[in-house]
Amino acid sequence: MHYFTFKRGSLYCENSKVESLAKRFGTPLYIYSQRTMYEHFSKLKNAFKEINPLICYSVKASSNLSILKLLVGYGAGLDIVSGGELYRARKVKCPVKKIVYASVGKTDEELRCAINFGILMFNVESISELRKINAVARKLKKKVDVALRFNPDVEPNTHSYITTGKKETKFGMDKETLKNIFFGAGVYSNLNIVGIHIHIGSQLTDSKPFIETLNKVKNLIKDLEQKGVSLEYLNIGGGLGIVYDKERPQTAQEFADKILPSLRSISLKVILEPGRFIVGNAGILVAKVIYIKDTPAKRFIIVDAAMNDLARPALYSAYHKIVSLKEKAASASAFKIAADIVGPVCESGDFLGKNRHLDVGEGDYIAVLGAGAYGFSMSSNYNSRPRAAEILVKNTKAVLIRKRESYSDLVKGEMLLR
Ligand code: LLP
Repeated sequence: MHYFTFKRGSLYCENSKVESLAKRFGTPLYIYSQRTMYEHFSKLKNAFKEINPLICYSVKASSNLSILKLLVGYGAGLDIVSGGELYRARKVKCPVKKIVYASVGKTDEELRCAINFGILMFNVESISELRKINAVARKLKKKVDVALRFNPDVEPNTHSYITTGKKETKFGMDKETLKNIFFGAGVYSNLNIVGIHIHIGSQLTDSKPFIETLNKVKNLIKDLEQKGVSLEYLNIGGGLGIVYDKERPQTAQEFADKILPSLRSISLKVILEPGRFIVGNAGILVAKVIYIKDTPAKRFIIVDAAMNDLARPALYSAYHKIVSLKEKAASASAFKIAADIVGPVCESGDFLGKNRHLDVGEGDYIAVLGAGAYGFSMSSNYNSRPRAAEILVKNTKAVLIRKRESYSDLVKGEMLLR
């Protein structure tokens, strides 16, 4: 569900014509639909309303301050993974007791900042980290709430790079380690161990791995309760998949219907950490065709966006639908030739899509769909390319939420050797 649709042959974002936005703000350009974000957030909230979970939007998916501010305004908390994301959370005045902090490598400085700020809890990934948080908290004379991240060793059926709940990944701790920590919790005098955290992977299209995980969590909690350990929170992470191509992911309601029975029986306060589900289909990347290049082997459509703007195709061979901003008659001859849509970066891995049928000429615009999550937030300056501008659309209004970088931004912070 999203608000990027063709009307009278032209692509619109809500009621704004995308081509006019591309001309006004330049390309490459990230365009987000506010209504889409709101609806996705609301769908999740409504699907789970019976248990009223805390929904902490996963900042890494798209971290622009305006997007965070909107979501915090809708009542979301934030799931952060670094000092930089904490800084963003503070900038948008996210209520401190709605901030949860994961990551396998929190540094002393990051821990100090987050403890002083008073976040709801850390999601802890190792015994060393637990000791470290305890030591930092002791120095600051604070008692800190933590959840322990459980690695359930479950196959989530997604790309291996975004599989996070298998035992060979770096995330979380196994059941025996967790039990030992809980049973010896007294050692950590400056910590309250208040919950369990899980996040088994991203872009999961069905609920089976979640159910398998929750069954394992249920057994773990039963073992803990038998020994008198009681908990307050269960954080089930993010991971809900979206449509990029022909996937048929579960809806928020189907997901809730499937897992609510488990959550009811566990009966702890639930936290969700969705990222992609909220913003993935709420954003597109618009680019301009610079050249059409025909070689004996292939046609290339060379555009002004590249792997530095959207890394997902290069990094995960991810599929993103690509459309021309103008819907033309499908019989057009250019349309019949399969072309690779590529950027100007000097690597053969620099492509946005392969073997696509697009009826575009030089000077026309294309849109890469489903680019709202892990799009701009993973962009870089590779090949000394300034990062794209970001705009937010609400109905017929568009506002700039991140300026296009300039060449002087590129070298900001660099020193000229004397
Ligand atoms: N919670 C934790 C602890 C996470 O590590 C993540 C994502 C999320 C929540 C949000 O997951 P989501 O609901 O968005 O699936 N760059 C990759 C995705 C990396 C996901 C990292 N962790 C991509 O472009 O597909």
